[in-house]
Amino acid sequence: MITMAVCSAKGGVGKTSVVLGLASAALHRSVSTLVVDLDPQADATSGLDVTAQREHDVAAVLRTPKRRVAESSVAPSGWVDDHPGLLDVVTGSAASARLDAPDHEQADLDGLRRALRKLDDHELALLDCPPSLGGLTRSAWRASDAVLVVSDASRFSVAAVGRTLDEVAALRSGPRVAGVLVNRFSPRSGEQRFRLEELRSLFGPLVLEPLPDRVAVPQSQGAGKPLHALRPVAARRVAEQFDRLLDVVLAQRAAPRTSRDSA
Ligand SMILES: Nc1ncnc2c1ncn2[C@@H]1O[C@H](COP(=O)(O)OP(=O)(O)OP(=O)(O)O)[C@@H](O)[C@H]1O
Ligand SMILES: [Mg+2]
Repeated sequence: MITMAVCSAKGGVGKTSVVLGLASAALHRSVSTLVVDLDPQADATSGLDVTAQREHDVAAVLRTPKRRVAESSVAPSGWVDDHPGLLDVVTGSAASARLDAPDHEQADLDGLRRALRKLDDHELALLDCPPSLGGLTRSAWRASDAVLVVSDASRFSVAAVGRTLDEVAALRSGPRVAGVLVNRFSPRSGEQRFRLEELRSLFGPLVLEPLPDRVAVPQSQGAGKPLHALRPVAARRVAEQFDRLLDVVLAQRAAPRTSRDSA
């Protein structure tokens, strides 16, 4: 299983939309996927149209990473009705907010990593993080092979990407950085083009093909459907871009985690 944390220090930049777009691409390609909804807002759980009630949720898994708890937190996505196990969700809950304290002891941050070892029957795990670099995102980093940092193309976000990459780089045996994804990019905006170039000058090839601002993204979410189920040409173009992003994610399979000396 390849495990990818989708994170950002900033809110509303599109982390959940990227997780949903990747889940849609993986479903389209029949790559079995587990989405772990770490955000107390539980938007990924809602976006994946989870209706089944489970005995446990992600907060219980983080506290008690035992097989029984982990397995009883997993619900099928409503996007799939005929292939059990193809797209599942460790359901999010508001209770996880209590585990987001930035000063968590290291031992507390290992729960998710241990739990995911017991839920390893999917090819891909996508971890949707909350908009902070607190305990939940740090738990995700410890559990992940690689990290995808989502950003918009604005001045304050450039600084936030730098902070996030510095924190990941400082981890001992931390995850690799799969890339920095600029979302809701409008090429007609000179300011956004300038910020994209600034990101490229700072982070080089880590900066991936930007994802444009497209109504298909909120439309698919509003309809509770995978992006790949939408027919209009504009929707298909965004879906194809998520296909290419999935290639980047799956390419992390062969790559080792980083090894740093500082904690
Ligand atoms: N490429 C896009 N084009 C158009 N709208 C988008 C795009 N990406 C995201 N959005 C919209 O932007 C809003 C915020 O996106 P999203 O919820 O994915 O961000 P987030 O980073 O997960 O937020 P939070 O930090 O609260 O978890 C949503 O309404 C979503 O539909
Ligand atoms: Mg979100």
